[in-house]
Amino acid sequence: MQATSKQNLIQEALAAQKRAVAPYSKFQVGAALLTVDGVIIRGANVESASYGLTCCAERVALFKALTEGHSSFKAIAVVAPMGGGATPCGACRQLLAEYAPKAKVWVADSRKPLKVTGYSVQELLPVSFQF
Ligand code: THU
Repeated sequence: MQATSKQNLIQEALAAQKRAVAPYSKFQVGAALLTVDGVIIRGANVESASYGLTCCAERVALFKALTEGHSSFKAIAVVAPMGGGATPCGACRQLLAEYAPKAKVWVADSRKPLKVTGYSVQELLPVSFQF
């Protein structure tokens, strides 16, 4: 399988964004998670009328991947219509620290997807809770 580039993964996240279910905020987020085996799992945010039940794109991708048997991740791309892109929220950072600690996090503004910023999970959530 050909190596997945950063821009490849961003394009996958853009495709995922189209499936966002965000009737309340109208803020559509797409994520694409790359496993060490080169498999890509997409996710998008899903909102509820009971707002707190909303699940972010990153968590949807991660939960899909984990429950499909993937457990080792290389990178996650996240796109949202926001200047500089949206970095993962605190809850997603905690889950990334637990299940994808070595993943590179690529974020981009979905309206300007060629400008990509990269973070490490450690940088996003230093001293994370580990049980
Ligand atoms: N959201 C994500 O999906 N990922 C992020 O990184 C930030 C926020 C979603 C949650 C909610 O559906 C909408 O964006 C507005 O907060």
